[in-house]
Amino acid sequence: MTQTLAIGRYNPADRAALVDTFGATVVSEPSALDALEADLRAGILAVAYMGHHTFGGAQMDLLPNLQVIANYGVGFDAIDIAAAGARGIKVTNTPDVLNDDVADLAIAMWLMQGRQMRAAESHVRSGDWAKSGPVPLNRKLSGGAAGIMGMGRIGRDIADRLAAFKMDIHYHARSKKATPGWTYHADPAELAKAVDFMFVALVGGPETEKYVSAEVIDALGPQGVIINISRGSVIDEEALLNALESGQIAGAGLDVFVGEPQVNPRFLGLDNVVLQPHQGSATAQTRAAMAQLQRDNIAAHLRGADLLTPVN
Ligand code: 8YV
Repeated sequence: MTQTLAIGRYNPADRAALVDTFGATVVSEPSALDALEADLRAGILAVAYMGHHTFGGAQMDLLPNLQVIANYGVGFDAIDIAAAGARGIKVTNTPDVLNDDVADLAIAMWLMQGRQMRAAESHVRSGDWAKSGPVPLNRKLSGGAAGIMGMGRIGRDIADRLAAFKMDIHYHARSKKATPGWTYHADPAELAKAVDFMFVALVGGPETEKYVSAEVIDALGPQGVIINISRGSVIDEEALLNALESGQIAGAGLDVFVGEPQVNPRFLGLDNVVLQPHQGSATAQTRAAMAQLQRDNIAAHLRGADLLTPVN
C-alpha cells in the first residue's frame, strides 16, 4: 500500500527518487486529490509537497490518516500550519541548503539593476556601441547603504555578501541581532529612510502580507531600489508599481510576484526593473539538496525517528 503521496511538478530525478524510495504516488497539484481512490487516500501517511497552491484543511481532510507534510522549500506559506496542527499533522521544510543560491540571486539582481546591465547588453548586441558610443554613466554601488528587511538565515547571507561590497549595513527584524557594526531599526519605514538599497528577505504568510507598505516604499525615496527574493505577498505590489512608474523610487529587482507565474503586465513595460522567474533556489545542486532533505524528513518520520527540520 502506498504510504507517500508526492504533490508537485518534480523534475524527473526527484520524482524518480520519491517513487524508488517510498513507492510514492505522484500528482501534479492538490486539485488532483479529489480524483484519487478513497482507499489510496486513506493509506497516505506522508505528503511530499512542492509548489505554491494552497494546501489547507480541505485538502488535508481528503487524506484522513495523514501524519506529515514535507515541504520542498524553506517557505511554507502555501501550507496552512494551523490546520495541520489542529489535525496532528507535522510539517517540515528545507532551510539552509538554499541560502547561498538565493543570496547570490539577490546580489545579481542588485548589480544588474544598479549597473543597468540589461540596457548595456542590448547596446552591445544591437551594434549601438560601435554606432553611437558608450552607454550613459551609471551608478556606483559598492560603499553605499543597504538595508535588509527580515534578518533570518537568507537575510544574513545577503548581508554577509553586501559587507564584502563595503556596504554600510542596516536591518529590520523582530529583534536585534548580535551583529556589531550593523544598524538595527525597529521600524521598517526607518530602515527604508536610512538606505538606498533595500533587500527583502521576509518569511511569507498572512502576518507579513504587504509588510513593505506604501509608507515604507515612499520612505525609500527617489534613489531607492527594492530587491525581493522572498514572496510577492510581502510587498504592496500596487504601491510598488505606482512608485516605479512615477519615479518615486529608482528601481527594483524582483524574483517573486503576487499571483506568479502570472506577472502584472505593468512590470513588463518598465525599464527600471529586473524581473526573474522565482529562480532563487533553482540550481541543480541546491534543488537536489532540497529534494534530499524532503525525502530524509519523510524517511525519518516513517521509521519513527525525529524530524530533521520541523516547522510545527
Ligand atoms: C520554492 C522557495 O520552494 O524555498 C522556497 O521558499 O520559494 C523555492 O525554493 C521552489 O520554487 C519550489 O516551489
